[in-house]
Amino acid sequence: MNTMKVPFLDLKAQYETIKEEINTAIQEVIDSCAFAGGPFVEKFEREYAEFCGADYAIGVGSGTEALWLTLLALGIGRGDEVITVPNTFIATVEAISFAGATPVFVDIDEDYYTMNPELIENAITPRTKAVIPVHLFGQMANMDPIMEIAKKHGLYVIEDACQAHGAEYKGKRAGSVGEAGCFSFYPGKNLGAYGEAGAVTTNNKDLTHKIKMLRDHGQSKKYYHDIIGWNARMDGIQAAVLSVKLRHLEEWNDKRRKNAGIYDSLLKKEGELCITKEAEYNKHIYHIYAIRIQKRGALITALKEKNIFCGIHYPVPIHLQRVYKGIGYTQGSFPAAERQADEVLSLPMDAELSRDQIVYVCELLRKFFELQT
Ligand SMILES: Cc1ncc(COP(=O)(O)O)c(C=O)c1O
Repeated sequence: MNTMKVPFLDLKAQYETIKEEINTAIQEVIDSCAFAGGPFVEKFEREYAEFCGADYAIGVGSGTEALWLTLLALGIGRGDEVITVPNTFIATVEAISFAGATPVFVDIDEDYYTMNPELIENAITPRTKAVIPVHLFGQMANMDPIMEIAKKHGLYVIEDACQAHGAEYKGKRAGSVGEAGCFSFYPGKNLGAYGEAGAVTTNNKDLTHKIKMLRDHGQSKKYYHDIIGWNARMDGIQAAVLSVKLRHLEEWNDKRRKNAGIYDSLLKKEGELCITKEAEYNKHIYHIYAIRIQKRGALITALKEKNIFCGIHYPVPIHLQRVYKGIGYTQGSFPAAERQADEVLSLPMDAELSRDQIVYVCELLRKFFELQT
């Protein structure tokens, strides 16, 4: 009997490969007691800005805060509209709502699951202030047409790069193309902290200053408060962990790309839908390796029985979530995003995944498809 187990991702296995570096880095923070903000955060901010090809990075408490504070810092709020996609994690849209603005959705490109630029202009009104393309699963949205439309209409482009650490579009890294890039370092991300953390990248010095004030109670210096802010600082321990992991990120992303290539070659025979498509202008970093299948529930059960663990990102598009029922969309408003939500399945994927594990997953998939036909 085959006893192989294939977790969706294996953070423990990753830790084993960098244990000493991580433990030393955490000990350094404890020794210096720089727990909230401070030198470890500043160091990581410099390193991450350089990695992304941006002038500045601002460490915050989560990806959700990165998005929210960026909107606030750009002066977006009540009465404004922000265009984004419905097939994202709720945080993209929550941040718009929490800033006081109204989310407006456009459908996605069915091949790549990212914003369809051809649909943006129809969604623009005199109240539109910004567009948030989501670099879903680790692949950047088609940024040239998005930037062009935004320029024509005087809109900000905020990249939701929460799943795209190191992804590239025509050689430019995620977080370096729009007015700002927002990143999550949730533990399961390609660059994940050992807790919650996030960052904003930008080339805009004033925006950097504003976000730094907002994340720290609106103060320009200690106990002198100029604007209403919040506590959204990054922890020293998270920054130290992220600095260690950043040194390995390119290698990990390359391994994920290699693993995606193995999946692609083994699944090719099973038909078009099985392969995660990479646009020719993109470098996908495969935060998620997603296939599409109509009998998804049955497949998940069959895989689970064989110790293979998958995910669904995401089962319900945001316009059909109960919380957003009131904003005027219905079933059928965004057919491509709705089809994706019904059919998408995320297979196990990380840098630690072995070829044998991928072969095992693909063998079971093939058996499942044979039974269906
Ligand atoms: C596309 C997207 N946007 C925003 C977020 C929010 O990030 P966080 O969980 O760090 O708040 C996430 C991460 O979960 C995400 O995947």
